[in-house]
Amino acid sequence: MAHISENGAKKICEICDRYADEKTPLMMILSDIQNEYGYIPLEVQELVSKKTGLSVAEIYGVVTFYSFFSLEPKGKYIIGCCLGTACYVKGAQQIVDKFSEILGIKPGETTADGLFTLDALRCIGACGIAPAVTINGKVYPKMTVDRVPEVVAEYRALGGAN
Ligand code: FES
Repeated sequence: MAHISENGAKKICEICDRYADEKTPLMMILSDIQNEYGYIPLEVQELVSKKTGLSVAEIYGVVTFYSFFSLEPKGKYIIGCCLGTACYVKGAQQIVDKFSEILGIKPGETTADGLFTLDALRCIGACGIAPAVTINGKVYPKMTVDRVPEVVAEYRALGGAN
């Protein structure tokens, strides 16, 4: 969606129209776009700005403030490594580093094949099972560096990006 197609633009306009009667429609519009496309690039923010009359700066501020909105396309599998205190003291940084090494990406990045996004998270409320890792919502308790390769292999075996 780097350059919005005619169809894509039409769809974004439809989403904006959906909330035309709302007083504060921005969060609803952005949530629908995020759910539909998986990310909200600048071109789309500009279109939302035209449709709603809100400034691009305001829209950009919201997109970058909330972690569930994304400016970039995310991978099929989103690996979230908790780096909160409880996980950190139990070696979470080494786990992030191992995912980085195997996938060839830094936290916040997505692999070129669109399969994996690596995210470093704050406490996810599972300190009792630290260090905690989540992949598309599935929790991996008491993760170890040694288990990282097998977990990545498991998802690679599941197949391609679509
Ligand atoms: S610090 Fe990782 S779950 Fe709380």
